[in-house]
Amino acid sequence: MLGRILAEGRTAMAGAANVYTHGHHESVLRSHRWRTAQNSAAYLVPHLARGASVLDIGCGPGTITADLAALVQPGRVTAVEISAEALRLARAEATARGLDTIDFAVADVHALDFADDTFDVVHAHQVLQHLADPVKALREMRRVCRPGGIVAARDGDYAAFTWFPSVPALDEWLRLYQRAARANGGEPDAGRRLLSWAHAAGFDQITATASVWCFATPEDRQWWGGMWAERILRSDLARQLVDSGMATDGDLLRVSQGWREWTAAHDGWLTVLHGEILCRA
Ligand SMILES: C[S@@+](CC[C@H](N)C(=O)[O-])C[C@H]1O[C@@H](n2cnc3c(N)ncnc32)[C@H](O)[C@@H]1O
Repeated sequence: MLGRILAEGRTAMAGAANVYTHGHHESVLRSHRWRTAQNSAAYLVPHLARGASVLDIGCGPGTITADLAALVQPGRVTAVEISAEALRLARAEATARGLDTIDFAVADVHALDFADDTFDVVHAHQVLQHLADPVKALREMRRVCRPGGIVAARDGDYAAFTWFPSVPALDEWLRLYQRAARANGGEPDAGRRLLSWAHAAGFDQITATASVWCFATPEDRQWWGGMWAERILRSDLARQLVDSGMATDGDLLRVSQGWREWTAAHDGWLTVLHGEILCRA
């Protein structure tokens, strides 16, 4: 059964050009599509002025992008992605919302095809943690941001995920995810490192903050825990863990069951800590 699920995942990812640990399986997109400017970029929103030009890097399916566009219109937002498939979803999201102020391009944040000083705001949500060279990416984000503009980034910090009750299979989930992300060149405990990466990229005016997502209602648990119970079996992460020998099908089924156990706990509680940086270019 799991073998078939993983084979389907492989087919869906055929031709993908980038190693993005989660991939864009529906169970992953369900998580991305829940995101809004309010729950994922609140630290940036007060700094967005109408008419500002914004570059949103690694926009995924584009719900945050669309919110940013609504906040700055008639200013334009440029949404870039390394995955053409994710970009197509972001375009569909903009169309569904009737937004015509978003431009789309496939691009790698390490080498952006924009002139120096192009944008007022350059934003990346949950992207730097997946990169081999987040400092180079921040330098590139700064290059395309006008002097005095803002470079903003927010990333989760997996080692700082906190949950109750204790479920041993979730400790295993965390170890497996961290191994897989690092094997792809990323740093899953990115939130705590953003300030140091910004320093290394040459920024000297940085505001570093933190914020959390908290899932503690039955509906939240069903959504977050149910999503991970499926992701650990069906996403690119599952495929990588099994193909690389880091986990067996049985391990993943145990972890999936652990997420279901947490979901069913009537006092289940989980927080995702995020680091945030607002840097003056
Ligand atoms: C966790 S998702 C975040 C999506 C969106 N920002 C959000 O928060 O809903 C990270 C996204 O970054 C994209 N990505 C990964 N490496 C990238 C790169 N080098 N340049 C641009 N985008 C990249 C992935 O394809 C993926 O869609």
